[in-house]
Amino acid sequence: MQKYPSPLPEWLQEIEEKAEADEVPIIRRSTQRFLSFFLGIMRPKRILEIGSAVGFSALLMANFDPDLTELVTIENYEPRIAEARENFTNSPFADKITFLPGDAAKIIPSLEGEFDLVFIDAAKGQYPDYLTLVDPMMRPGGVILADNILQDGFLLMPKEALCRRNRTIHKRVREYLDMVCRDKRYVTDVLPVGDGLAMTRIC
Ligand SMILES: C[S@@+](CC[C@H](N)C(=O)[O-])C[C@H]1O[C@@H](n2cnc3c(N)ncnc32)[C@H](O)[C@@H]1O
Repeated sequence: MQKYPSPLPEWLQEIEEKAEADEVPIIRRSTQRFLSFFLGIMRPKRILEIGSAVGFSALLMANFDPDLTELVTIENYEPRIAEARENFTNSPFADKITFLPGDAAKIIPSLEGEFDLVFIDAAKGQYPDYLTLVDPMMRPGGVILADNILQDGFLLMPKEALCRRNRTIHKRVREYLDMVCRDKRYVTDVLPVGDGLAMTRIC
């Protein structure tokens, strides 16, 4: 099969390869392509990411957003914090990235200013809480992207077929979708990109 060249710069490919080797969950290739494409069109100035892991998606967004002034990203898992910090410091975007280690639910209320784009990619069971917290910080016309909405197909299965943990995630992800679909201030659709990407525009 023909191999096409990666659109990522070499230093970012290395972070991707290491994350994959260490089994760190990072955005899938199709989500990478979508974000690269979307950021080039939307050109958000200020981005909030919930769930940095080792910094791969934050750096990808910084790399493909020509108008970025600040990207704030939050991670609470201690073993990933040092690696994320190192990846940010060694990248060409160190001056644009604000890395906040800790629990997103506690950190978000302390943030100031508006965001053009929020990328939610942390604890799936907390998606509804993250939405409630970020809603007042969105600029009109801003976009919220939530990853892993289809949960490898779990979302479409009857809850009786799932184990207890997945039932809770299933319920909370559905609650998130219900919130973004019912509220008339939002326009939402779920894109079959990666593991399902819910895309919400604030009218
Ligand atoms: C799917 S990974 C993020 C991947 C990253 N966005 C990427 O693609 O490069 C989800 C991350 O969210 C973090 N996380 C989960 N709950 C969190 C919380 N309450 N606050 C901050 N980070 C959290 C996890 O530790 C994990 O590293």
